[in-house]
Amino acid sequence: HGTSRVNERGHLEIGGCDTADLVRTYGTPLYVYDETLIREKCQTYVKAFEETGFRFQVAYASKAFMCMAMCRLVAEENMSLDVVSGGELYTALTAGFPAARIHFHGNNKTEDELVMALDAGIGCFVVDNFYELEILNDLARERGVIVPIMLRLTPGIEAHTHEYISTGQDDSKFGFGVATGQALAAVKRALDKESVHLLGIHSHIGSQIFDTVGFVGAVEVLGAFLEQVRTETGYEVEVLNLGGGFGIRYTEEDTPLPVDEYVKVITDEVRRQFSARAYRMPEIWIEPGRSIVGDAGTTLYTVGSIKDIPGIRKYVAVDGGMTDNIRPALYQAKYEAALANRMNEQPAETVSIAGKCCESGDMLIWDYMLPEAKPGDILAISCTGAYGYSMANNYNRIRRPAVVFVKDGGAEVVVERETYDDLIRNDRLRAGVIQR
Ligand code: LLP
Repeated sequence: HGTSRVNERGHLEIGGCDTADLVRTYGTPLYVYDETLIREKCQTYVKAFEETGFRFQVAYASKAFMCMAMCRLVAEENMSLDVVSGGELYTALTAGFPAARIHFHGNNKTEDELVMALDAGIGCFVVDNFYELEILNDLARERGVIVPIMLRLTPGIEAHTHEYISTGQDDSKFGFGVATGQALAAVKRALDKESVHLLGIHSHIGSQIFDTVGFVGAVEVLGAFLEQVRTETGYEVEVLNLGGGFGIRYTEEDTPLPVDEYVKVITDEVRRQFSARAYRMPEIWIEPGRSIVGDAGTTLYTVGSIKDIPGIRKYVAVDGGMTDNIRPALYQAKYEAALANRMNEQPAETVSIAGKCCESGDMLIWDYMLPEAKPGDILAISCTGAYGYSMANNYNRIRRPAVVFVKDGGAEVVVERETYDDLIRNDRLRAGVIQR
């Protein structure tokens, strides 16, 4: 997919770059992002919205993969950016991302983070709870500004990978429950606050969603809720934010819809719900993360030790693992792989791909057909672009890999590989004296 292909040397090529050459230059493990594919995804979302006639913002959910170069790319594609921490905000601001297009999420933003975002003049705070509403209003009043906010609601629709369950009870750490009445109370309180401007409401129903049922359900619930709000307060929203969660294909078990299909179904349902109520058409915002970067990312590893337990299993170990991709260990997530330097060879054996961490659960793929792997081969795992690097860690003091963007035969490092010095940078040897 994307610009990936098998070249004349029988190697996996991404963005016109031979992966064997990338490995020689940058080492492994290496995250390789197909820049063309990321931009195509961005443009598909934007174009899909343009065709609906709605006013809109597509905010990239930076938690899926973030670095300064990614912020630049998102800015160039004229999209907005969803951040959830001081760290993501700092990265965006340092990269020069336009503050007016930054949306700040999170269920426990600290006062420091709120101040940082206020001082930067970001476009919208997605307020999650009553506590945040109070302190944000106070901080804004002290500064003599009016802050644009949305309220995060839990519509009682929970979307899980394959099915969705409509829950009457809103048992979630996020947002104000519609069914519990907290959502209505929050809207009233926000309307009473002198230093916030309520742009509208937000809902995010889950991640890696394949169908549109949950989104339609959420819009129905929110439509009815907004009608109640209007009846009781006269308030009508300017913006409706429907979050992210659009699924991608990791393996053939996954059956996502094309991106524009999600957009079409959502906008059709908003039009239906809102026109039926003679409600003014809101601006629609969404926040895709995974579906922008997920399948654009490939991780390259070098095969090392191979352990064959006759009659039981063959383990092929690579030089990374749960430190650069925790999803298999954390969610039993499934991936596909290939030997990037031997693409034309037929699968010959079933192996399990192990990481190098001191933990039995550090397995990347179980029971997968590959050509017979040898030490030194390059193992490529595809669709690692979302929640791979962003959830990477230094367990066992393993260094975080480098990230390169590839395009038209050129490669550029966007995040350097961590050095051993990076690992000890914050360590302090004790002087042997306890300071009092
Ligand atoms: N908006 C909100 C409020 C969210 O909580 C999320 C994801 C998104 C947008 C983006 O969702 P996406 O389009 O990427 O599905 N670590 C997990 C995924 C956690 C998603 C958390 N929230 C994983 O690796 O699958």
